[in-house]
Amino acid sequence: MSTNHATRSASAPGKVILFGEHAVVYGQPAIAVPVTQVKANATVTPAPPGSGLTIVASDLGTDFRLDAPPDEPLTAAARLALSHCSAPEPDATLTLRSTIPIASGLGSGTAVSTALIRALAEFLGCPMETAELSALVFEIEKIHHGTPSGIDNTVVAYAQPVYFRRGQPVERLAVGAPFTLLIGDTGIRSSTREAVEQVRESRRRDPAHYDALFDQIGDVANQARRAIEAGRVDALGPLMDENHDLLIELGVSSPELDELVESARFGGAMGSKLSGAGRGGNMVALVEEDCVEEVAEELREAGASRVIVSTILQRTLQRIRNKTD
Ligand code: PMV
Repeated sequence: MSTNHATRSASAPGKVILFGEHAVVYGQPAIAVPVTQVKANATVTPAPPGSGLTIVASDLGTDFRLDAPPDEPLTAAARLALSHCSAPEPDATLTLRSTIPIASGLGSGTAVSTALIRALAEFLGCPMETAELSALVFEIEKIHHGTPSGIDNTVVAYAQPVYFRRGQPVERLAVGAPFTLLIGDTGIRSSTREAVEQVRESRRRDPAHYDALFDQIGDVANQARRAIEAGRVDALGPLMDENHDLLIELGVSSPELDELVESARFGGAMGSKLSGAGRGGNMVALVEEDCVEEVAEELREAGASRVIVSTILQRTLQRIRNKTD
């Protein structure tokens, strides 16, 4: 392995879960897509000999050194990258920046770990396969969330729409027709760890009921996969509505999420649901191109602190765009 001391940068997108959150922890399939309108970036620059590695978390206004406690996620990610590359601590400054709102279901921690590990590995002259990168980020997800399913690191590392099932090989989704999403933020931060724990506790008390809900959510995710691949965008809206109702039954929605979900439908969305762990964070709505402004306005009036528009491109369109970027 050659050591390269030139400056290296990497970025990783945010993400939304379109179908299957929570049930995915229990082995059901889920669908997630990258959100490229927000991203995390990591830049590694050489530092004077003997200075070691400093991680500068610009958004937090904090610096970290490698001797931080083992459960500090940024330094844990850096240590993992070094050990994966069998490299000693380099003399370098690793600067992190992110435009992804934290603790809101858009994968901010995941994207930061992904960008950090990729940039550091490239600085060390040890580029990684996406599958290896995803596996390392999964280790950091465990620090953040306890028992993650692995969907977040997969969609963020691959930066493509994925159909994900715990323990199964990654399946990239072929998108049959483009579709547009509006992502509305309740502005309420929510802990994925606590939401997952709440569902686990509910299931412990009534396994049959919760397993039946997980099965129904998995069924919705499978129907959605077929609709996405066939380009049947019309079929996706009702499936999102159905998924949201099942998430309400799981107990992970909130009045603020329900309000945004309802107002998106009122504004003309084809369907809408909470996205991610729930109890706060973001919701997602499927909208026709000519309704984008109207639905975005409804969301803002209903209290959304931020609205992101994201179009998921057809697979073939994506290839053409990447070539000309
Ligand atoms: O990190 P979030 O808020 O996008 O939620 C992750 C999705 C869950 O299914 C709730 C947890 C998991 O690990 O899959």
